[in-house]
Amino acid sequence: MKEHTPLIVRALRNEVTERPPVWFMRQAGRYLPEYRELRSKHTFLQMCHTPELATEVTLQPLRRYPFDAGIIFSDILLPLESMGAELEYIPGTGPVIRNPVRTAADVRALKDFDPIRDLPAPMEAIRLTTAAADVPILGFAGAPFTMACYLIEGQGSRNWPETKRLMFGQPKLFDELLNRLADAVGDHLQAQIDAGAVGVQLFDTWAGVLGPADFQRWALPANRRALKRASGAPTMFFTKDSAPFLPWLRDIEADAYAVDWRVDIGAARKVLGDVPIQGNLDPQALHAPHDEIRRRVRSIIETAGPKGHIFNLGHGITPDIEPAAVEAAVEAVHAHRWS
Ligand code: CP3
Repeated sequence: MKEHTPLIVRALRNEVTERPPVWFMRQAGRYLPEYRELRSKHTFLQMCHTPELATEVTLQPLRRYPFDAGIIFSDILLPLESMGAELEYIPGTGPVIRNPVRTAADVRALKDFDPIRDLPAPMEAIRLTTAAADVPILGFAGAPFTMACYLIEGQGSRNWPETKRLMFGQPKLFDELLNRLADAVGDHLQAQIDAGAVGVQLFDTWAGVLGPADFQRWALPANRRALKRASGAPTMFFTKDSAPFLPWLRDIEADAYAVDWRVDIGAARKVLGDVPIQGNLDPQALHAPHDEIRRRVRSIIETAGPKGHIFNLGHGITPDIEPAAVEAAVEAVHAHRWS
């Protein structure tokens, strides 16, 4: 299908590229009118579980913008549903789990997760999307700690008090839960690679609520355990508050690291060393005038340098972003040439 090695594959191999490849976290979603139109006819979970709908949504941003990769439309919490969580997505509230995990009996009642048996839709959507798109498709999963947060709390939270009560109060049980989740998401990543994903990203959105010692004690080894189960394509690791953890991040043994916008990408590179880096435009900078967006895009590219840089946002696009702002940012990446 594609004769030359795609730009994103080259950047993930830490090669010098003529410009950085670009994709955006949450590039498929509610900021696009065509997503909202389809979403008005189906629930979010129906869309995730129907390969044809997930494929259509994955392709929507690729029709509008010259992104260098698609990311499969799905959600990090779907494996929890297969493991026994009663999961719902409530507009305005976000994900809710009606039967949160709080005790040893709850942890032990979780079912084992076999992605091919329990959650075939994302893999089928990867096959369909890969056949239909001109660019490679990425897979993803939630990191064990972030999955544990939702599973224990039962919904999004600012302080995650129940999660920390369990983590600090029953550390052995929390280890057991993280290990179960690591094995589940590791197998999920592998199944997506086997289905044709050219790379996979692990999202540890909430790891930033941990202090550095707790990050090293809990989130870090669980992430390494998950990624050890996945081979055959490069792995990327994202956390929303990367700065405090940069000195230890490479112990996760991912192939590339995605950093948020609160860290200077050049400074992050110095700490991380010679490894592919992804990022890191402030998603809310997409509210800026287009000239300012272009200026910021250029500045990030110049600071990151020509080797092993994948341009992305520092976190997902929010539903209030104008589609034209996304176009301005993506075009600015395409306009760049390292001479
Ligand atoms: O990036 C992509 O375009 C691929 C699809 C994708 C979604 N969620 C679709 C989605 C990805 C990669 C995710 C990851 C995800 N999901 C994360 C990690 C990244 C991050 O954003 O921090 C987390 C924490 C979740 C859990 C989740 N799913 C939340 C908190 C919500 C509610 C968000 C909100 O603003 O309402 C979701 C729902 C969700 N996942 C939507 C989409 C497009 C919106 C669903 C809708 O249409 O109502």
